[in-house]
Amino acid sequence: MISARGLRKTFGDFEAVRGIDVSVRPGVAFGFLGPNGAGKSSTMRMICCVSPPTGGELRVFGMDPAQDGPKIKARLGVCPQEDTLDVELNVYDNLYVYGRYFGLPRAEVKGRIEELLDFVQLTDKAKAKVDDLSGGMKRRLTIARSLINRPEILVLDEPTTGLDPQARHVIWDRLFRLKQAGVTLLLTTHYMDEAEQLCDELVVMDQGRIVAHGTPLGLIRDHSTREVAELRFGVGEHESLAAKVEDLAERIEVLPDRLLLYSDDGESVIEAVHGRGLTPAATLVRRSSLEDVFLHLTGRTLVD
Ligand SMILES: Nc1ncnc2c1ncn2[C@@H]1O[C@H](COP(=O)(O)OP(=O)(O)OP(=O)(O)O)[C@@H](O)[C@H]1O
Ligand SMILES: [Mg+2]
Repeated sequence: MISARGLRKTFGDFEAVRGIDVSVRPGVAFGFLGPNGAGKSSTMRMICCVSPPTGGELRVFGMDPAQDGPKIKARLGVCPQEDTLDVELNVYDNLYVYGRYFGLPRAEVKGRIEELLDFVQLTDKAKAKVDDLSGGMKRRLTIARSLINRPEILVLDEPTTGLDPQARHVIWDRLFRLKQAGVTLLLTTHYMDEAEQLCDELVVMDQGRIVAHGTPLGLIRDHSTREVAELRFGVGEHESLAAKVEDLAERIEVLPDRLLLYSDDGESVIEAVHGRGLTPAATLVRRSSLEDVFLHLTGRTLVD
């Protein structure tokens, strides 16, 4: 569906995307995970034919965005990072105007809008002003709008950023249904749980480069241990205590507010820490996540 080879995007002499290779097969949910400024949106905009690549090769549905932008766009759905809904119009009319823009006949648009409002659970808000919607409802409306032309690929740039957990789960559920209906999903996120829940395959991006590629589980297996013991000591103590416990784990990360000890058996690590006469203020054992993968690969956390 999408193939990129050495894809680059520069703004002046700043390199936002520094030569990435990506290949997205039909029907998968493909994620771009990375912190602020990683180059996720720049990549999405090139794929959506709204920003020309600076270099490398890009094909969407086998076509070149530089030659066949309109043909590609007709088969894409786009849900941009910032809401671009028309606040002058109500919910229904936002969809109507968009449908007409895609050249759909009036009668067809009307039927399609009913289906979509039902799909995103906004039927009873059809006449509401966009400004009166919650953040989650606005995102759902943007998703509905992006589906008006029955796209084969749906591109979602940070679909749930800023939403509360419940609103995020509603969106995940809808995206999961779309995937089951065969829509290829391309999404960016800096939420590791979102990437783990939704993506079959993902790339981890940092500073314009892809630093890892795989399935969520595969990435965790390849770049982290099964478990992580988190130890919280007093403020400012973590750096100096790290040296006293680092041999107890396969790997250690020192964060300002805690130590992360990577091991396949976190409980034993905590017992051993206590065995050395150290008494953390709080301890926690959890499974490794994509956050740990990112930390291992870049030395930084995903969300500061
Ligand atoms: N039009 C532009 N002109 C100049 N610099 C830009 C432009 N668009 C993006 N950049 C820069 O390119 C880098 C990558 O930006 P991009 O928006 O692709 O990152 P991102 O991964 O989407 O980040 P975020 O998670 O914050 O949305 C950033 O440093 C950004 O400041
Ligand atoms: Mg972005």
